[in-house]
Amino acid sequence: MATIVTFGSATWDAFSELEKGDYRVIEDDKFLTKKAICFPLGSKVIIDKLNFFSGGGGTNTAATFAKQGFEVSYLGRVGNDGQGTMVLEELEEIGVDISMVVRDKERPTAFSLILPTPQGKRSILAYRGACHFMREETIPWSSIKKADWFYIAPLSGESVNLFKPLIKFAREQNIKIALNPSISQVEMIKNSDQSLLGDIDLLVLNNEEAALLTDSAINQEERMLKIILESLKGVLAITSGVRGALASDKENIFKAPIAPVTVRACTGAGDAFASGFLSGLLEKNDIEYAIRLAILNAAGCVSKVGAKEGLLKKGEAAEWPPLKIVKNKINF
Ligand SMILES: Nc1ncnc2c1ncn2[C@@H]1O[C@H](COP(=O)(O)OP(=O)(O)OP(=O)(O)O)[C@@H](O)[C@H]1O
Ligand SMILES: [Mg+2]
Repeated sequence: MATIVTFGSATWDAFSELEKGDYRVIEDDKFLTKKAICFPLGSKVIIDKLNFFSGGGGTNTAATFAKQGFEVSYLGRVGNDGQGTMVLEELEEIGVDISMVVRDKERPTAFSLILPTPQGKRSILAYRGACHFMREETIPWSSIKKADWFYIAPLSGESVNLFKPLIKFAREQNIKIALNPSISQVEMIKNSDQSLLGDIDLLVLNNEEAALLTDSAINQEERMLKIILESLKGVLAITSGVRGALASDKENIFKAPIAPVTVRACTGAGDAFASGFLSGLLEKNDIEYAIRLAILNAAGCVSKVGAKEGLLKKGEAAEWPPLKIVKNKINF
């Protein structure tokens, strides 16, 4: 059985529900996304419901791998606080090895406050905590050299400096790499003339990240695929939110729609997709199987509040109705 080590964030997430609160979504070009959530200044806005869950790309993906029956360790950092303890207790319960997690004596566990809007969108107020301060010197290299796969979830803050050392080590030790990069990591790949992609066995991007990496518009699918597949060692998957996802092994392109579910909260969808995809690849070495497991794991995730709540256990994907996956030969 494959052994996987995941790298990335470990957070404590507060999901708020603001059903009756006095707040509004406004349109304003000054904001990055041209829209903003707006609260009345100087007054109190009541949160109707508040639910706490563990989150973060490193731990969410480790949870999928454990639920899918793989041996998995999370290598990250949490604070020496109650939230850190709760994150680790949950991971242990799911079956993730946490023996390499460092408790940071100075920095609290990273924290996210998730503010939803009635349209199902959300803003996240994110506090950079312990997991964003991973250092090369603190990685127990000799303990991880026997891994079959490194799964690198989005790295941000100081932890982004781990990206290149992890890839170098994996290359030297013949460890395969699955990567779902942060925007800073996408920039690092761009600055390497894409040569970093030559070490990546599975790359999962969302549409915006693929566009950024290849200097394309988000609808220039063929251009993105061409540029990325030219330098990538292994398999590519690109997600497009409610429009589903595609994957390619350089010979074929597989396109899959989303699985229809009632959406409760989308936080963790990207993690669920990418970790579901790798689980599928490891189980059957079949892209069609992998993209299906990815889509269903993500559907399970968005159907529940909390990034780990709806993740599928091994075998559960078979209980879902079939997905129409279209396969085409690449002709460019
Ligand atoms: N509303 C939805 N219903 C069902 N599935 C969804 C929905 N939104 C997203 N998904 C699934 O999750 C996958 C990943 O979503 P998306 O493309 O938004 O990733 P992302 O931008 O990386 O997300 P994240 O913000 O979690 O990093 C999609 O390809 C899709 O399969
Ligand atoms: Mg993502």
